[in-house]
Amino acid sequence: MSQESYSVAVVGATGAVGGEFLSLFERRKFPVGSLKLLASERSKGRMIEFKGKPYPVAPTTHESFLGVDFAFFSAGAARAKEFVPTALAAGSTVFDNSSAFRMQEDTPLVVPEINGELITKEQRLYPVANCTAIVLCMAVAPLMKLGKVERLIVSTYQSASGGGAKMMQRLLDETLETFEGEQPTGDYPYAFNLFSHNTPINEFGYNEEEWKVIQETRKMLGLPELRVNVTSIRVPVLRAHSESITVEFGDDAPDEELVREAYRAFPGIKLWDDRQHNQFPTPLRASGADEVLVGRIRRDISNPKALCLFACGDQLLKGAALNGVQIAEHWLKL
Ligand code: A2P
Repeated sequence: MSQESYSVAVVGATGAVGGEFLSLFERRKFPVGSLKLLASERSKGRMIEFKGKPYPVAPTTHESFLGVDFAFFSAGAARAKEFVPTALAAGSTVFDNSSAFRMQEDTPLVVPEINGELITKEQRLYPVANCTAIVLCMAVAPLMKLGKVERLIVSTYQSASGGGAKMMQRLLDETLETFEGEQPTGDYPYAFNLFSHNTPINEFGYNEEEWKVIQETRKMLGLPELRVNVTSIRVPVLRAHSESITVEFGDDAPDEELVREAYRAFPGIKLWDDRQHNQFPTPLRASGADEVLVGRIRRDISNPKALCLFACGDQLLKGAALNGVQIAEHWLKL
């Protein structure tokens, strides 16, 4: 397939990640020839602008993918299971933000900066990993050149954007309600609160989000035996996930300055580690940024083999849409 522009479909075009796909196509000059915006039956009749032109949103059907070169999905695992096989059968190359196919054995889980060599012309299904796992892997991958990474201990501070457009709106609404003197109700009051990720908890006491991060991190880093422990917490931040990460090495942790150098040299990472002024990554700094921000780098005073750091990454960009578009760009260059 070597042509100048391509037929592109976005499934979940009305959602938070869907919107980012469209902005990224424009900003990165992705060669969109024709564009299909797809969502649920509910969005029928809606118009969305792309490059200053309004496009209608259509319901997703099994006929939607005829003639589509690239299909970018962000509509959840159930829709992916229903429509990705149809898109593949129609000849589309698919980038899917859901968890539906990530752990499938013959399917690579790609972050181009880490394992871009897994992108091939023959491979036409690219799941995009969990957003928290992508930010974690970006922060850990540069360290793998400095020593044997044996264990990760991670606490997350996850933003509303991880729960999609509805969750972001809920945070805004509840915040306003609180100012108006109302007490947010429900199982997970969100404004001025934080809570353990509200996905089902398994037999080991880990919720679904934590379990995905453990499995997908091992797969992306190519370390199936890596010991990973994660606690996922949702915080009242609109956009960009933050993570406190302790990395344990087989031997003494590398020198802090070597770590900083490794981060400076790694594409997609921005080092933000200003001890003098106490300035480090924040979700606001990471919002809208393509890079994952890394800082607070220090050797663990309680364990000579461990290194501590803090990372923030825009969940909607590197954690989702940007990673998908980067894989597509890489694929086009093959
Ligand atoms: P819709 O707006 O029509 O419900 P977010 O993750 O931001 O909540 O977005 C989820 C996206 O998935 C939205 O674009 C939503 O469209 C889409 N979606 C939800 N259900 C379906 C469905 N049955 N078929 C196709 N797209 C769907």
